[in-house]
This record gives sequence, C-alpha cells and structure tokens, in this order.
Amino acid sequence: MSSEQSRILIIGFGTVGQGFFELFARKRKALGLDNVSISEIVDMKYGHITNPTDDLINQLKAGPTFPKKDVMTVIKESDANIVCEFTWLNLKTAEPAYSHIRESLEMGKHVITTNKGPSALKYRELMDLANRKKVKFLMKGTVMAGTPSYNLLDLLPGAEVKSVRGIMNGTTNYILTSMEQGKNFDVALKEAQDLGYAEADPTNDVDGLDAASKITIISHILGWKHEFSDVNIEGIRKVTPEQARDKTKLIAYADKSKIYVRPTKLSKDDILSGVTGVTNAIEIDTDTMGKVYSMGPGAGRTQTAQAAITDLMTIMKNS
Ligand code: HSE
Repeated sequence: MSSEQSRILIIGFGTVGQGFFELFARKRKALGLDNVSISEIVDMKYGHITNPTDDLINQLKAGPTFPKKDVMTVIKESDANIVCEFTWLNLKTAEPAYSHIRESLEMGKHVITTNKGPSALKYRELMDLANRKKVKFLMKGTVMAGTPSYNLLDLLPGAEVKSVRGIMNGTTNYILTSMEQGKNFDVALKEAQDLGYAEADPTNDVDGLDAASKITIISHILGWKHEFSDVNIEGIRKVTPEQARDKTKLIAYADKSKIYVRPTKLSKDDILSGVTGVTNAIEIDTDTMGKVYSMGPGAGRTQTAQAAITDLMTIMKNS
C-alpha cells in the first residue's frame, strides 16, 4: 500500500455519505489508513465543507452552515485524488452523478460510487476514460451493498462465469415475503420504506428497474454486451398472494446472450427460494466451481458504506 497521502472528496452527504464518513472514522486505524483523509465534502443542503473533523455529523445537527458551492467547480478546484460520488439515483440520464464522475476521472481522480445510474447507463464510456487516465472507477455499493457479489470473482482467478442469477432488490423480496405471510402489498411496501430500503421513487423497485440496473452492472463488469435498455423487465405488480406463497421471487438473470428481471416460481430446493425479507442473494455459476452463492443485506447506511470502504481498499492496495 502506498504511503503517500490520499485525500477524499465526498459528493453528496445524505445517508450513504454520512454512513461512509462515520465508518471511515471508525475503521481508519484498523485498516491502516492513517495516510488517507476526507479532505472535502460538497452537498446541496450542507454546502462545501473543507477539512472536516470526526464530529462533523454532530456539528451539522447543531446547524452550522457552510458556503454553497457549485459541485463541478469543487471537483475542478479540489486537490483530492479520490472522489466518492454519493448523489441521488437517476435511471433516465444518470445525471448529475454522470457529469461529476466524468469530470473527476478526466482530472485523473479515482472514483468510488454507489450510484446505479452512471454505473448501469454509462459504464463503458466511464470505464474507458478511467483506463485512459490510469485511475479506478469502482462501484461495489451498487450491487448488494457491502455483501460480496460480483467481487467474489476476485477470489476465483481464471473462473469463467456461465450465468448470474439473484434476488437483488430487498424491497420487492420484502413485499413478496410479506404477501406470503398474508399481508397486503401496500402495507408491505410501507414497511420496506420504513426500513430505509425502498428507492425514493419505489416504482423503481416494484417495476423491476432497480434489479435491472444491478444485473446490467454485473453484466458490464463481466464484459457481456447487454445494455440497460436490453433488459427484459417485469416487476411484481401482477404477482398474486398465492404465487408469493408458492415461492415466486423477483429474479434477475444474465448470461452472455440473455438478460432479464422477472417474477419466477422457484422450486423448494432452490437455495434462492429460502431468501426472505429484505435479504439479497446471488448465485454465480462458474466453469471451475459450479454454483457459488453469497447472501446478505443489499442496502442500509453502514452496509452501503462498507461497500465504499471495500472499493477504497482496492484503490489503496493498487496505489
Ligand atoms: N431499493 C433497493 C432495494 C436499495 O430495495 O434493494 C438498494 O439498491
């Protein structure tokens, strides 16, 4: 690991940004990251914060206001070499995260994001740019938060992936599990929202777009040629309580030639049929190992922050 000083600029200081800030402060020593600091934060609500101290989140509760500054200007003027992009999801144009990430990469900064918009819609362009600039563009938090998913493959060098299948949306799995237990759709959706799982616009969850963005990102990472617009998507609106009781799950699937998200009736001995509530799970079918599984939380403040820490360690190990 490099002993040179690294500085992080956080863009977006909502749940994920604050979760990352706290987890970084808590784990910095244990991870040997004494040479890394969060030097700047920029956020629409809180403004532009430089050299924050570890008690920043408490300070913000007490209401100090920092100067407002245009995010693109902050990126251009920043001496940070790592940018953490944590702004909101836009699955139509990927903005504003796309512009933030592109500018950061152009400037030769590594980028970590938890944002599915640019990762699903602009992956190749941004990855080419990162490669040209010899920096990393990492996005573990976009797929199953910190729960190992596609990054399991780092532990299986040479393994060829035949297919990937999974339950990658906690909100819909929670709704289907609740319906299985006799609750109605709206009550279950409200509960998933209260647990902090549902997207700001839960139609992205319910209609399968969120899961579609995740399977597209995995497909990009595996070098398959599917685009987000290629995903055959069906959400869970038409699933009946009886089908839910019969182990119908919202399955995201991809192989080299197919990519889809759709409610699928699973057999009782299918490992994925036992995945309940907001839990996510992935099955990766490989030529060397056969089927490998991982299961765990797919969202949450600390869980998503863990993914960004995982990406940060990848950068530090390779620097
Ligand atoms: N809305 C998502 C889910 C959150 O329910 O799984 C994580 O992407």
